[in-house]
Amino acid sequence: MPQIEHRVELDANLTNPDYSGIVLTPEEIEAGEHRRFVGGVWDTHGQHQLEFLKAQGLQPHHRLMDIGCGAFRAGRHFIDYLEPGNYYGIDANHSVMQAGYDTELTDEQRARVPIENLRANDRFDTDFGVQFDFAIANSVFTHVSLNHIRLCMYRLDKVMAPGGSFYATFFVRKDSVPIDAVKPIKRRNKGYFTEKNNFVYYRQDLRWAAKWGDWSYRYIGDWGHPAKQQMVQYTKLTPEQVEERRRAKERRANPGRLRRVARRLVG
Ligand SMILES: C[S@@+](CC[C@H](N)C(=O)[O-])C[C@H]1O[C@@H](n2cnc3c(N)ncnc32)[C@H](O)[C@@H]1O
Repeated sequence: MPQIEHRVELDANLTNPDYSGIVLTPEEIEAGEHRRFVGGVWDTHGQHQLEFLKAQGLQPHHRLMDIGCGAFRAGRHFIDYLEPGNYYGIDANHSVMQAGYDTELTDEQRARVPIENLRANDRFDTDFGVQFDFAIANSVFTHVSLNHIRLCMYRLDKVMAPGGSFYATFFVRKDSVPIDAVKPIKRRNKGYFTEKNNFVYYRQDLRWAAKWGDWSYRYIGDWGHPAKQQMVQYTKLTPEQVEERRRAKERRANPGRLRRVARRLVG
């Protein structure tokens, strides 16, 4: 099987987050550990992501970036739907991606995804020399810090087509919950912090992330995620919208200037 490109040499001593460092053994892959690694719900949650993006306007001719694509739980459905070559994926974990590529994709699906479209790195290196019409990060912002979210927005901004949309899911922390609170999760007997994997964010955090590029922001909310992660949409502004935003900012910063210019013109 071809090897997925591994762009970033990960530090062998990396422990935090340990997401990227985990290497699955052949026995674990045989037992389906790569499916559990991406959250299980294997039979439905990939298809659900495709249906969601189709409802948002995804069409076969569009180019899609699947950020944190994991073992292609959704990727295999996107690959079937999109025209050959239009699916791209990155993930922090090389081993999980490779396991998905080798064992979850059919020969036909592999033929529809050039291996150069897949890349393992944990710094959102999405520069494949093309522009994307759509991007999705399902259950990824739950595993990364705000610094990483910022990095994602900054780098994706450079490769999104004007008018293209990026959809990202996250665990919501209600505004009423204090910053230093720990929300105990009984099921796994562990705490949810704002500052630790799994991360839980305020809605305003996700809005803040839109600052790191020419993005507009929309809160979508519930979209049927099995663990109730909520959805947000970031849309890449067109050059005209960027210019309009710049002018509006200027007007806000200097409200008198416009009046003075107008007076000079009529006078
Ligand atoms: C819960 S899984 C979801 C995978 C996939 N989106 C899906 O729906 O099946 C989270 C994925 O995010 C990846 N991930 C975590 N941090 C990342 C980062 N900084 N860059 C890219 N991928 C990351 C993990 O390796 C993992 O495969």
